[in-house]
Amino acid sequence: MPRFANSLAQCTRVHSLAQRALLASIVLLFTSFASAQTLIKADALVDVVGKRLIQEPTVLIEDGRITSLNANDAQASTIIDLSGHTLLPGLIDMHVHMTGSADEHGYKRLATSQTRAALRGAKNAERTLLAGVTSARNLGAPGFIDVALRDAINEGDVIGPRMFVSGPSLGITGGHCDNNLLPYEYQAQSDGVADGPWEVAKLVRRNIKYGADVIKVCATGGVLSKGTKVGVQQYSLEELKSVVDEAHRRGITVAAHAHGAEGINAAIQAGVDTIEHASFIDEEGIRLAKKNGTVLSMDIYVTEFILGEGEKAGILEESLEKERKTGGTQRENFRKAVQAGVPMVMGTDAGVYPHGDNLYQLSRMVEFGMTPMQALRAASINAAKVLNQEENIGSVSVGKSADLIAVKGNPLDNISLLEDVVFVMKDGEVVKSAE
Ligand code: ARG
Repeated sequence: MPRFANSLAQCTRVHSLAQRALLASIVLLFTSFASAQTLIKADALVDVVGKRLIQEPTVLIEDGRITSLNANDAQASTIIDLSGHTLLPGLIDMHVHMTGSADEHGYKRLATSQTRAALRGAKNAERTLLAGVTSARNLGAPGFIDVALRDAINEGDVIGPRMFVSGPSLGITGGHCDNNLLPYEYQAQSDGVADGPWEVAKLVRRNIKYGADVIKVCATGGVLSKGTKVGVQQYSLEELKSVVDEAHRRGITVAAHAHGAEGINAAIQAGVDTIEHASFIDEEGIRLAKKNGTVLSMDIYVTEFILGEGEKAGILEESLEKERKTGGTQRENFRKAVQAGVPMVMGTDAGVYPHGDNLYQLSRMVEFGMTPMQALRAASINAAKVLNQEENIGSVSVGKSADLIAVKGNPLDNISLLEDVVFVMKDGEVVKSAE
């Protein structure tokens, strides 16, 4: 009997039988909670650290953490038998917009309030988790609604992945991260607009004040914004340096949206931690990223959605036209970056396309040059490192959070199996079961 329960029994004067029975069941409940150990068995386990497949693994879990990788049945009160399945660490998507909706782009989006978007985020978070994404980095949300969503998940109000969030993206006046849809008299401006080194530093401070875990900065134009040129640099090197200095001084990482080569190179020189999209990265960018350890997060699946479904979702014709000139090149540059050995994570831009389809990108990452193991590492251990969460997530290892997923069959033979994740556990709790 645990010490707490023992002393509870001693110091309580129990009179009636009913009271005794009640106390006994409380003690029993407490005892079973305190010693609840779950053992998971499967056919195989993808070891993303050792870069190998482990046959017939067992994973012992207690209090939400992995406590052993070679336990036996006798040690566990619950056994989860995943015969026929392969276990993997819960995966990490490094670029999502959890409060964004794939069916609301362009002018359609203007009719949705931030509050409504936040509530929709709750549904999106659950879908994301059930698809096997147990951690997600949210890069850009108005009004700090992603901070609220992260906190609601952590406090157990909403079911979703553990989230690392940026709050509003920093961007220049009229740039990719501003709202350029309305004429002057509406005075529409996004929450993260700042110009000049001091203004951007101030917004870094503000975003940290209101709960940001990471800073998102828009270094170049983009596809989905009105009136921006996708390849053109927007923030100057000086401004980017100011963002990075301020964030790093506070122990916070910086993710830079950057499509064009000049903006990518400036962002790397400024010291950002990840380059998002990296569509037109050139030889110099590849060299610099490798040298500085800047991590690329290239969303190479989303182009299929934008060109296939984008028009009816409200994406502007000018954006469709930009995408036609971006998606293909980005995929070829992904291949070059993989070949050159630049560090990579999986970032999808889910929210532009439907939440829950995040892991469709893995098969494209393999199609464009990665081995299945490389793609899975990009979506797990590599991401955990960038998040400074290597002690806690990113692999099935003793001491880490019990974030585990399973697929039927061997994903190293067929990476598309990740499009049908049948079992999901987060923090030791089963949120989706194989039966
Ligand atoms: N949010 C990004 C932008 O608007 C999406 C880019 C999508 N296209 C692509 N090929 N990755 O710029």
